[in-house]
Amino acid sequence: MRILVTGGAGFIGSHLAEALHTHHEVHVLDNLSTGQRENLPPDIPLYEIDLLEAEALEAHFAKHTYEVICHLAAQVDVRSSIEAPHQDAQVNILGTLRLLQAVRSFRPWVIFASTGGAIYGEKARLPIPESEPPNPESPYGISKLAGELYLQYFGRVYGFPYTILRLANVYGPRQSPHGEAGVVAIFSYRLLTGQPTWIYGDGHQTRDFIFVADVVEAFMSVLRHPTTTQNQIFNVGTAQATTVIALHQRVAAQVGSGQCPQFLPPKAGEVRHNSLDARKLYQATGWQPRTTLEEGLAATLAAFQKTLTTTRFQNKG
Ligand SMILES: NC(=O)c1ccc[n+]([C@@H]2O[C@H](COP(=O)([O-])OP(=O)(O)OC[C@H]3O[C@@H](n4cnc5c(N)ncnc54)[C@H](O)[C@@H]3O)[C@@H](O)[C@H]2O)c1
Repeated sequence: MRILVTGGAGFIGSHLAEALHTHHEVHVLDNLSTGQRENLPPDIPLYEIDLLEAEALEAHFAKHTYEVICHLAAQVDVRSSIEAPHQDAQVNILGTLRLLQAVRSFRPWVIFASTGGAIYGEKARLPIPESEPPNPESPYGISKLAGELYLQYFGRVYGFPYTILRLANVYGPRQSPHGEAGVVAIFSYRLLTGQPTWIYGDGHQTRDFIFVADVVEAFMSVLRHPTTTQNQIFNVGTAQATTVIALHQRVAAQVGSGQCPQFLPPKAGEVRHNSLDARKLYQATGWQPRTTLEEGLAATLAAFQKTLTTTRFQNKG
């Protein structure tokens, strides 16, 4: 199949593009705002296009059509969305709309990376199933929900299939440790380099951490099961809730550091507890997360360590 991965030079998108590339013809569309060319094997074509450039998008899709579009390009930082909600909405709402408008004539199957961490809001029932109504508490959660709704609208009106995957907190190699999103990457990088770490709030807030390879496998399992996954919404998570303080302890233990984090006032727009019930995806495709947190953290730290060693080596050279 010919598959386009938007945001394919980013953290999750590059792992997905690489995995798809072994069985399919894969193109990547990315503006490289947070993504990097080096994240991709050189033989995957990368089209450096911004979703907000309507003309460039139309020109691209006049030349290239796809059976499947995995739409991952987005502004992904909850805290940035609170500081600059209009910028978040530009990319996540208008960018998604522009993409859908540009591809409506050839009706691809659109598989959308949404969020299960930011869309539901605070829920009494954990792990959260898809049947819980969304109640986002941040502009990021609102813009991803708007993306879902526009996708469903375009699917209905223009007759193309869609699948929405609401991802939990994804971590793994290539996640950026810079900025405020991606707590595993931030703890890993800072503990490995002996820099101070901090936690917003008391550290007892919980998150559902899922390894990136399991998320990639969720996309692959959806692609293998179109009849049970099209026009559906699925959670992609582990159902396990881990406190941020416990995560810090686990990363520090694997690094061999005794460092304690500094505690800062909690940030607005972040839910206290989150974990996702992904049994619906299991029933539709047989998908289950396979990587334990210990294994995933070890793989992430090994990758960060390798990058740091290479960078130091290059700097010395
Ligand atoms: N990382 C997580 O924990 C997580 C959790 C839930 C959902 N998601 C979703 O998964 C997707 C990928 O997230 P990620 O963590 O890999 O982030 P990322 O920042 O690494 O990837 C996003 C990619 O989109 C590109 N991009 C941003 N704006 C663009 C634009 N206007 N035009 C074209 N490309 C643009 C960036 O350059 C980057 O390569 C996002 O849609 C995000 O909302 C991520």
